[in-house]
Amino acid sequence: MSDTLLTERGLFVAGAAIALFIVYQAVLSLKTRPTRAKSLRISEIYVYPIKSLRPTKLTSALATRYGFEHDRVFMLLQVVPDGYKNMAVSKYPDMTQFLTSIEDRKDGQAVVNVTFRAFGSGQKTNTLSVPLAPETGKLEPFNVDMHGSPTAAFKMPNEYNAWFSECFGYQVVLVYLGNNKREVLWTDLVQTKNASLLAQVPVLGSAIPQTPKITFADCAPYLVVSSTSVDNVSSRLAPDEPMDVTKFRPNIVLSGADEAWDEDYWGKVRIGSVDLIMKHNCVRCASINVDYETGKPGTGESGQVLKKLQKDRRIDKGAKWSPVFGRYAFWRGRNNEQVFRVGDEAVVTDRNKDRTVFNWPGIG
Ligand SMILES: *[C@@H]1O[C@H](CO)[C@@H](O)[C@H](O)[C@H]1NC(C)=O
Ligand SMILES: *[C@@H]1O[C@H](CO)[C@@H](O)[C@H](O)[C@H]1NC(C)=O
Ligand SMILES: *[C@@H]1O[C@H](CO)[C@@H](O)[C@H](O)[C@H]1NC(C)=O
Repeated sequence: MSDTLLTERGLFVAGAAIALFIVYQAVLSLKTRPTRAKSLRISEIYVYPIKSLRPTKLTSALATRYGFEHDRVFMLLQVVPDGYKNMAVSKYPDMTQFLTSIEDRKDGQAVVNVTFRAFGSGQKTNTLSVPLAPETGKLEPFNVDMHGSPTAAFKMPNEYNAWFSECFGYQVVLVYLGNNKREVLWTDLVQTKNASLLAQVPVLGSAIPQTPKITFADCAPYLVVSSTSVDNVSSRLAPDEPMDVTKFRPNIVLSGADEAWDEDYWGKVRIGSVDLIMKHNCVRCASINVDYETGKPGTGESGQVLKKLQKDRRIDKGAKWSPVFGRYAFWRGRNNEQVFRVGDEAVVTDRNKDRTVFNWPGIG
């Protein structure tokens, strides 16, 4: 055997190996590339420090597994003869007359400034500054039960309750969550197996499956909506009265979806290194008919939004009568927090074959 033959055979083997390697890499890259990944952007961020009041619109916010920092850490309850009633926009449309603005003060104490601007009172406003992390040691314990999921909380000092009572014209109390959290009652999430999907990434082997916990937010840490679907709702209203997205109470508005209602099928949306797991639809009630200007049920087309959506948006088998708008999302990530910014890319990395089914007992 001559030397040349040996070299030729060697070259052939090396060439074949290289070719195989290239094919293998190509197959690998095809397999790891998420199929039909769709790139969207965060276009709006909203935080609601006091549940059911108007939101603070932010350009960035610290996202955590319990929702955005400061989101729904306070709520209001009406004082009634036999106790207290949870307040929310659907039954208390006057709550929309309170604007909020989060202020990071120089002394490191963040506050929310609440401005009451009652319709018909001209430009007259009245502002209260509420510390966002009050010292709970001196506060009176107060239990809250929301949607069957109770939590311990704290009653704020009298000056705050008095200010709100004066504005509303009836007795209310302002309640702070402190470090407490509520359990979610989604029947598919209280099961250990599914809950562990969302559980905190185990630290040093302590893999205790955790059901996700929430604040005074109704059912999930995040509500995500698509601006393409907001546009669809606007197309059903008078041109000079487009839909106000804040009536849907979103935390995150994503823009860039090609089709309205594409979000019905989103399973997972990645933002930075965090996955927002979209477990359920948000089903809607009469709160979307409230006129935020007047603080009363809307007259004209703005008071008909629920009905207009009931026509074709009752698409969740678990909530037959309620139209769906937006997705409830849970946190899955190696990090416990990450700053989300307007303009951040959001990639739909997982689509569900079928629509999800609402299953929080007692709602829908
Ligand atoms: C918020 O309230 C604080 C304390 O009352 C006040 O110093 C500050 O100017 C307020 N900020 C705005 C924007 O109203
Ligand atoms: C777990 O989640 C999957 C997908 O959402 C669902 O099909 C299944 O029924 C859930 N399991 C339980 C025990 O709820
Ligand atoms: C809005 O969505 C409905 C489906 O729910 C669709 O039939 C309609 O064409 C959409 N309208 C616009 C303007 O995209």
